[in-house]
Parts: sequence; structure tokens; C-alpha cells
Amino acid sequence: MKDTYIFSIETSCDETSCSIIKNGNIDVATVTSTQIDIHKKFGGVVPEIASRNHTGVITMVFEECLKKANMTFNDIDAIAVTYGPGLNGALLVGIEAAKALSFATKKPLIPVNHMAGHIYANKFAGEFKFPLLALVVSGGHTEIIYMEKEYSFKKIGGTLDDSVGEAYDKVARVVGIPYPGGPLMDKLASKGKHTYNLPIPKDDNSYDFSFSGIKSAVINLVHNEKQRGNDINKEDLATSFQETVVSILVKKTIRAIKEYDVKQLLLAGGVSANSGLRKELEEACKELNIEFLKPEIRYCTDNASMIGAAAYYAYLKGDRADFSLNPEPGLDLDKEGACNE
Ligand code: KG4
Ligand code: ZN
Repeated sequence: MKDTYIFSIETSCDETSCSIIKNGNIDVATVTSTQIDIHKKFGGVVPEIASRNHTGVITMVFEECLKKANMTFNDIDAIAVTYGPGLNGALLVGIEAAKALSFATKKPLIPVNHMAGHIYANKFAGEFKFPLLALVVSGGHTEIIYMEKEYSFKKIGGTLDDSVGEAYDKVARVVGIPYPGGPLMDKLASKGKHTYNLPIPKDDNSYDFSFSGIKSAVINLVHNEKQRGNDINKEDLATSFQETVVSILVKKTIRAIKEYDVKQLLLAGGVSANSGLRKELEEACKELNIEFLKPEIRYCTDNASMIGAAAYYAYLKGDRADFSLNPEPGLDLDKEGACNE
């Protein structure tokens, strides 16, 4: 079969990224420009600033990507772009760039759901074995997704309020750790002890999650200790928070694995870089005798490689967009799913 090369663009939040992916799982070239340092001083991503910066660097990023691959658009079969979920203005920059490239090169345009991208980041780690479950944990989402076959998604549970990434970032902020707090909290958690007693969030029989309660509990704890003139032990707090959050994620995922009788578990999204979560799920899957796939750290947070991997399967399925494609900031993964068609 002829090789398929997809040129992909990701601009849903604060990374401007372009990639060329061969046959859905070979990363020919990826170039990512991050805005983390720009947003750090505001304590989080400022949407207006994000879109302005995407506009400023997108041309340079895609030119650099072609150069790195030593390819031209003549070698490319299709152009893929994230069209949601994400920040409206940020998504728009990538979409307009993709439309312009598709128009100029006459290559088909493939719309990709950002969360499908996170799941398909696992294609760089191994083959998918269906049916499978994906635990998707990012800055905007916390979901358990059932996949019966390729590019088919059914949400069996999600967060009722904050995502786990958001809870990490807000808890980090209250103890003075700069945005994005998740990675540093994870590092601190490996050095501390579980000394702070935090409530286990939404410990029930559903597959839904809730992280606003534990976030508020930590914020109140820090304020109360400050008022009493006590210092917070950041390492112990990070360990206590991480162990509590990981325990509920793992507990509900294990129950879903048993109920849905799946062959594989995939971990996906920015929080999939979390060392505690990776280790606990690895051990749980070993015990249950099912295969566990997790993305390499460089594919955990937002990047265009994962969009190119997902796009290959969307392309095979026949997904195409025309030039009326617009951002869908609240796009649901269920919408892509053949399970729900
Ligand atoms: O998937 P992502 O790059 O962006 C969204 O699509 O939302 O996820 C970013 C989130 C941030 O909240 C960040 O703090 C979190 O992923 N994160 C982590 C770790 N690395 C990134 N959270 C916990 N532990 C980590 N090691
Ligand atoms: Zn993401």
C-alpha cells in the first residue's frame, strides 16, 4: 500500500505545533512553539494573548516542520487540523492556516477532535487492541472513553466540574507554584509523605469525577494554616493531593475495565505525564492481566503529532471538511463516535 503522509496543525490552547506523520504512527517531523513562559506571569492561559501569539509564529512553525522533514507539500496527502475542543480564537488561527494550505495545495482537509488526538498519541507507543478503554486526563477534560473499534468513541464517564489538570494547576497556584503547576506538583509529590487528610472526591458507583471539592479543601487548608501562622509542607501536600486524586482515578478505571471487559487500557492527555498515575495504572493492569499503553512524555501534552496520528484514521474513515470549517470550542468526543451514529 502507498504510504500516507499527513501534515497536521494544533493550536487549541497555548502550543503552536505542526507535524508530518507517516501512516498514522511514524513521526517524520514535529515542530512546537510553546507560550508557557508568556502565560506564566498571568497564572494561566489568556485566550486573547494565545491567539495573537499563534498568529505570530504559525507560518514559521509550518515552514520549519517541512524543512525538518526535508519535504514539500507535493509529498503530503492531506492537511489535518484540530477544530475543537479548545479556545475559540486559538483554534481559529490553526483552522484558517489549514484551510489556506488546503486551498493552495488542493489537498483534502481533515477535521480532528483534540481529545481523539490525545488518545491517538498512544499509536506511537503500540498497536490498539479492541475493545479498549482510554482514561483521558488533561487541563480541560477528565473522561473514561470506550472504543469498540478504530476511531469510535463512547464516553462512559466525565467530570462534573473541574478537570484533574485544572485542580493540579489551582492547588499549585495556592502554594506559589507557577503555571502549569502539574509537572512541579508531581515532582514534589515524589519527595513527600501523605500527611494531610483530604476528602476522596466522588467515591461512588458512577464513572463520573468531581475535583472542585478537593481543590477547595486544599485551598482552605492552606489559608487556615497561614492564619494560624503555620508553614505548609509543600512536598507533603503534593504527595497527599496526588495520592488522593490518583486513587480515585485508578479505582474507577479498574471498575470500568472489569465491567466493559476490555483488552487494553490507554492513558491520554497532559496529566498522563503524571508519574504516580502512570505507575499505579501500570501495576493495576498487570494485576488484571490487560495491556497498558501510555504515551511517551513528549506526546502527553499538546502537540501536532498526536493530531496527525488521529487524522490518519479519520482520513481512512472518510472524514473531510470544506472551507466552512469553524472552531467548535465545546466539541464532545462522543460526536465523533461511530458507536453513537
Ligand atoms: O493536554 P494538555 O497539554 O492541555 C489540554 O488539552 O488541556 O494538559 C495540560 C495539563 C495542565 O493542567 C498541566 O498541569 C497538566 O496537564 N500536567 C500534569 C503533569 N504534566 C502536565 N499534571 C500532573 N502531573 C504531571 N506530570
Ligand atoms: Zn490537550
